[in-house]
Amino acid sequence: MSTTKTGLEADFYARFGLEAPAGFTAELARLSLAPDATAALSRILARRSYRRFTDQPVPEAVRAVLLACAQSAPAKSDLQQYSILDLRDPAKKSALAELCDTAWMADAPVLLVFCGDLRRAQRACDIHGHAYQQNTLDSFMNAAVDAALAMQAMILAAEAAGLGCCCISQVRKRLPEVAELLNLPDGVFPVAGLAAGWPDEARDVTYRLPPSIVVHRDGYDDTDLGSELDQYDQRRHAARPLANQIKPEKFGTAEFYGWSENAVRRLAEPSDLGGLRGYLEAHGFDLA
Ligand SMILES: Cc1cc2nc3c(=O)[nH]c(=O)nc-3n(C[C@H](O)[C@H](O)[C@H](O)COP(=O)(O)O)c2cc1C
Repeated sequence: MSTTKTGLEADFYARFGLEAPAGFTAELARLSLAPDATAALSRILARRSYRRFTDQPVPEAVRAVLLACAQSAPAKSDLQQYSILDLRDPAKKSALAELCDTAWMADAPVLLVFCGDLRRAQRACDIHGHAYQQNTLDSFMNAAVDAALAMQAMILAAEAAGLGCCCISQVRKRLPEVAELLNLPDGVFPVAGLAAGWPDEARDVTYRLPPSIVVHRDGYDDTDLGSELDQYDQRRHAARPLANQIKPEKFGTAEFYGWSENAVRRLAEPSDLGGLRGYLEAHGFDLA
């Protein structure tokens, strides 16, 4: 990376391995963003997942403010259709880590499970004597999105406070057992876990797909996907080559093994999180 880049231009380069758009730095300079705004943008551009944490506990007041930030996320129709499980009992944390096949999460000072929650609204309908009419696929998606936005608000808040985080979709690996462990009733489903604490490892910022294939101006257009993916693979490989190929005994050993070959090999195998529909249908969701 060029040493001449500073500030958000350097952060942009570190995020994508690409030059920032023309005029980026000059225009930002003209806008004279407040230093704390620049610092916040820089922190978001440099975010990465952490999976190892020091033993230092996260004080109750910090937890409380971070959870309040999580609840400050926007929510569909202000319905707030999510719940957050805050695991404190070490035995429960270990049991969850085991169900997720993810040993490191047991040691995270903060371990949360963000859940979509249609139950609360259904109970509120009962309390008010109205018939609930929205047990639909759309409501399921709204609840999942609400939970995800709350989780992301928590991540941004935690990182602003100096903590590191990692999301954990593995909480959906053994859904019935996880639901039993967490006492999840019908109408509530885990979206993802979130481990957080003071980082005890160095992690790289990994290059993201270029904005040119993720951000579509005025209408979807993926005409150049093949060549853009190839360039992305090359950039990523030059900066951080992938150490291991997925299942060479099945897929062969690729001479050049980039991000997209790795991604498609993952996608060419069934997911180990496949039981969601059956779980939901057995636990109060119509998905109609
Ligand atoms: C919804 C979601 C679920 C994830 N689940 C896991 C997980 O189960 N285990 C894990 O180690 N990382 C998990 N991650 C972290 C991703 O692997 C990580 O974000 C991705 O590799 C990009 O790395 P970065 O966050 O450091 O940029 C998850 C991320 C998201 C958004």
